[in-house]
Amino acid sequence: MQQDLENMVSAAHQAIKAVDNLQALAEIRVHYLGKKGTLTDLLKGLGTLSPEERPRIGQLVNEAKEKIQEQIEIRSQNLIQNQLQQKLESQRLDVTLPGRGENLGTAHPLNQVRERVETIFKSMGFKIIEGPEIESEYYNFTALNIPEHHPARAMQDTFYLEDGNLLRTHTSPTQIHVMETQKPPIRILTPGRVFRHEYDHSHTPMFHQFEMLIIDEHTTMSDLKGILSDFLNHFFESEFELRFRASYFPFTEPSAEVDIQCVKCHGKGCRVCKGTGWLEILGCGMVHPNVLAACNIDSERYQGCAFGMGIERLAMLYYGIDDIRLLFENDLRFLRQF
Ligand code: DAH
Repeated sequence: MQQDLENMVSAAHQAIKAVDNLQALAEIRVHYLGKKGTLTDLLKGLGTLSPEERPRIGQLVNEAKEKIQEQIEIRSQNLIQNQLQQKLESQRLDVTLPGRGENLGTAHPLNQVRERVETIFKSMGFKIIEGPEIESEYYNFTALNIPEHHPARAMQDTFYLEDGNLLRTHTSPTQIHVMETQKPPIRILTPGRVFRHEYDHSHTPMFHQFEMLIIDEHTTMSDLKGILSDFLNHFFESEFELRFRASYFPFTEPSAEVDIQCVKCHGKGCRVCKGTGWLEILGCGMVHPNVLAACNIDSERYQGCAFGMGIERLAMLYYGIDDIRLLFENDLRFLRQF
């Protein structure tokens, strides 16, 4: 019996040494130590021994069992280490490689321009207010002194909705909402989307405007000129001359269109300004008394000045973009430049 035990331990030792994976090792454990294993068989043989011999052989069986368990444990640790080592070698990590980097998004150039504009006006004490994109004819036209059947309604090609409302053609209707709900003095800037039925290299059916409005006592055309030139000089980071040309808008009297000295050539004449030295940039004027009256503001006491400007136009001049449609194609090769 003692000889059998020794043989078994040495056979197990050989087998454990030879094994090269954890699965096979588990099978060896079952073979020697399992319920139907070799050791259990030997234990059954204890019954045939004399009572004097039994404790001694029993002790030997236990020792054999512990030995085999210990060897399995050591081999198992070995195999786990080997596996890890193999993995480390086959999946080598080169820490000197450059990182893949994060693809950070950026604000769309139009939003960057809009933020710039808002920052400048906030620093001059203006509140930023947004109005609705769907308007009634009243807000888009009538309250702005454009009565029904007035030819000025045809100045802008309007998208009408089935319920009789329309997509606002300019941000000017927000002036009306503000004057209806706030008492002068008013100093606001209202940026937002506007819609017109037109499409070519300088027009898209949706574009952005912002509208400046001041209502106060003693407001004059020179307030308008001062704010405009401060804003434009800040925005284009240089001093430019402005040129006011008399014009017509139903909601202002007098009205003017403003040209800025070409931001590219400073007035010398270039491709951007088509050789004229000037760029048309916005419409403005003193708020018409009829518009003040529509909002119950006493035009004897208060005057207003206002202007409306296209954000795309500003962005194109600032970045030197010559086709407005590029701003809406969302071609990443274009957008990544900003
Ligand atoms: N609403 C005009 C347009 O979209 C622009 C404009 C002109 C706005 C004169 C004004 C203004 O506030 O006073 O063409």
